[in-house]
Amino acid sequence: MALATSVYAAVDRDAIIERIKPHGNICVEGDETCGTGAPAVAASAGTVRSGEEVYNRFCTACHATGLLESPKFGSGAMSARADEKGLDGLLASAISGINAMPPKGTCNDCADEELEAAIQYMIDND
Ligand code: HEC
Repeated sequence: MALATSVYAAVDRDAIIERIKPHGNICVEGDETCGTGAPAVAASAGTVRSGEEVYNRFCTACHATGLLESPKFGSGAMSARADEKGLDGLLASAISGINAMPPKGTCNDCADEELEAAIQYMIDND
């Protein structure tokens, strides 16, 4: 009887260890040592469009070809204006519109940071 009791005790101990061990691992984004499942969800909300997305959807209509004498994509014209006015200056005129350039470049629901990213995208590819 004494033997049987200790066998049960050993089984119970394993069961208890199984029961109290941590239920999950906390995965911190970027930690490659804990890769058991889907990647961690990025902390930032995914609603901000990239400069490339905004450019391709809205700005390309004019800037791809230099329509209406807009600074043509890839020609160096936007970079030249950036040197002259700074990114803040370009952003200000993109928001308000300037001559034939409509306010926000027709991206009416664009946040300032999205417009800025689109301008930066044009400068980076100039
Ligand atoms: C309907 C045509 C059109 C669209 C669409 C358009 N632009 Fe323009 N953009 C222009 C024209 C024309 C100019 C030149 C204005 C001038 O200096 O006379 C210009 C100039 C600019 C400038 C330079 C402003 C300055 O101060 O020199 C920026 C920055 C700019 N556009 C950003 C954008 C962005 C970002 C988008 C998309 C979200 C966009 N544009 C969409 C026509 C357009």
